[in-house]
Amino acid sequence: MQFKQSILEIIKQRTSVRTFEKEPISIEDQELIKHYLSDSANLIGPFGKRFKIEYVPVNKDHTDKGIKIGTYGFIKSPQAYLVGIMENNDANSIQFGYLFEKLVLFLTDLGIGTCWLGGTFTRESFETEINLNKNEMIPAITPIGYAAGKKRLFEKTLRTMVKADNKMAFETLFFKQDFNQNLSIAEAGQYELPLEMVRLGPSASNKQPWRVVLDQNNCHFFLEKTPNYSGNREGFTMQRLDLGIAMCHFELTCQELGIKGEWVQSQPDIQFNETMEYHYTWMSK
Ligand SMILES: Cc1cc2nc3c(=O)[nH]c(=O)nc-3n(C[C@H](O)[C@H](O)[C@H](O)COP(=O)(O)O)c2cc1C
Repeated sequence: MQFKQSILEIIKQRTSVRTFEKEPISIEDQELIKHYLSDSANLIGPFGKRFKIEYVPVNKDHTDKGIKIGTYGFIKSPQAYLVGIMENNDANSIQFGYLFEKLVLFLTDLGIGTCWLGGTFTRESFETEINLNKNEMIPAITPIGYAAGKKRLFEKTLRTMVKADNKMAFETLFFKQDFNQNLSIAEAGQYELPLEMVRLGPSASNKQPWRVVLDQNNCHFFLEKTPNYSGNREGFTMQRLDLGIAMCHFELTCQELGIKGEWVQSQPDIQFNETMEYHYTWMSK
């Protein structure tokens, strides 16, 4: 699929939206979203796993079936939800994160507000609405609509609490050769912008758990799990969604800049502590 704007601009524009205008989503935008969701290429993860995404319109927090759904007050006046569905298998989480973030970027490009929700929504009422198969679960959803001109006080306070506008420094997230040496922007070479776009990504509770080691033009992607993080106790490791988001930003930026490479699983011979998980390497071609 093609974005209208540069992917760099879209990633910079995206921010979590929790307060929406009461204005319904235009018919034209609804059609574009439904068209996106009807293209099976948009429902297949980067390593071939297929997912489902349901479009659930809401009117005053009730679905067309009359089911009341809620977000514990986190989201105001959404016009619909996009509900992600995956087979309940932790291994799928990274691919789901990648695929759902691509959808979020598509919506951002259309001018539609989104907010990843992995925890603060009534999972059971969405499960009833969707009629999940036995082996399926809802890893995350997003409300959609047009962002309200003004944020509510609640939303501003929440952003302050999770330090949403504080993204960690480049040198803190990225390393060279091993975890003993921080990577400066100047040392990142062609990967400066792909890594910068990783840094700007959304993450559960803004924990920013991605760590990347650049070694001989290849980038090793690790997840530094937050100890005792409640999000990882929702029946799956929620922070793996964050890693999928990071990989999505990285790969789309490489594509736009013409940087060639592919994802492989080939764990490098470097030391890392037990809170870390190695997942994928971007191998340059
Ligand atoms: C996997 C995932 C789960 C999230 N779950 C929630 C949630 O349950 N409730 C919420 O209000 N925000 C949630 N967020 C949004 C984050 O809090 C937000 O991305 C982060 O604070 C950074 O802010 P930004 O998205 O505006 O850059 C989630 C984000 C991700 C990626």
